Amino acid sequence: MVEYEERTAVATPNIALIKYWGRRDSALNLPFNSSLSMTLDFSLRTKTSVLFTNKVRKDIFYLNHRQISNGSVSEKIDNVRKVVKEMKELAGVTESVKAVIASENSFPMDSGIASSASGGAALVYALNSSLNLNLSSKEMSIFARKISGSACRSVLGGIVKWNRGKREDGLDSYAEEVLDYKGWEELTDIIAIVSYRRKAIPSSVGHDITSVTSPLYRIRPELAEESIKRALKFIRDRDFEGLGEIIMRDSNNMHAAMLDSWPPIIYMNDTSIKVIHAIERLNESEGRIIAAYTFDAGPNAHVITVRPQAERVRKALESVRGVKKILKVGVGQGPKLVEESLFSNPRYPESRFLREILAA
Ligand code: PMV
Repeated sequence: MVEYEERTAVATPNIALIKYWGRRDSALNLPFNSSLSMTLDFSLRTKTSVLFTNKVRKDIFYLNHRQISNGSVSEKIDNVRKVVKEMKELAGVTESVKAVIASENSFPMDSGIASSASGGAALVYALNSSLNLNLSSKEMSIFARKISGSACRSVLGGIVKWNRGKREDGLDSYAEEVLDYKGWEELTDIIAIVSYRRKAIPSSVGHDITSVTSPLYRIRPELAEESIKRALKFIRDRDFEGLGEIIMRDSNNMHAAMLDSWPPIIYMNDTSIKVIHAIERLNESEGRIIAAYTFDAGPNAHVITVRPQAERVRKALESVRGVKKILKVGVGQGPKLVEESLFSNPRYPESRFLREILAA
């Protein structure tokens, strides 16, 4: 039997500056429009360990130290299973060899901080190394996209563009770095956590409801492509004011189309709206845009700013009633392999499980 080394990777979420919402193919997560994001630094991360063995009868997954049961029904978990199978086949792994995979997030899942993006990227990164596939970042991005669309952007660091592509097989729909993580180091994401609750409508369902039912959505794909072109120019010129306005308007446009869906989809809550007003007041008092709010499929606010303004933004957010926690996150470099595995921590059930089966 070919030996596959145990591998552990860490990857980080990304915050979309111009959003992905709506899919032309929901099996392959092919979007109607391109999107643009900033990869976040390692202060928020997913760590994923993979190991291949012929001592178990099926692939086994642990998420945050809980084994995922086979009956679990979730589009993203199904996608994980499919991608593991595809990558194993590509590496020529024999049927009797199964994967044991453990993944841990350093932040709450399903609360608007994209855990599926960092999770998908960390998994593909760890599998690529363990299976000796030597994939390019383009190939890894395509695999990560199949787990969760936004995960294809977390395979890279810095400012990243996911090209929507036109092909039916999705081979031209992957992410590329447009600016190295050191290219505009001052960019900062101040995250205001306003709720830890699980979101009511998973993005996998929301994408399709909006694109099928919202009349407003019809103008969104082309508008987003236009916004990306303009945002890229502002990024090249390091023009925060220009970029900030587009970021806010794109988030507002996506949430307007969500609200326009039937049944309506509302991810923001009262505190999210108060954050919007607080940022408007801050920018008004400054006489220019120094901070830009943006919301994903959840109520938590991401406020993009530049480092010298970070404290002022934090103060403005602290004054909003209902904000529970504030995190300051910089631009990240993308995934990396690390030594310390989740299987080596004796406190974790996945580690006990592995020791038992490997000893058997
Ligand atoms: O990757 P998904 O299916 O969780 O979709 C993410 C969609 C948004 O976070 C709302 C926008 C984006 O581009 O990340």
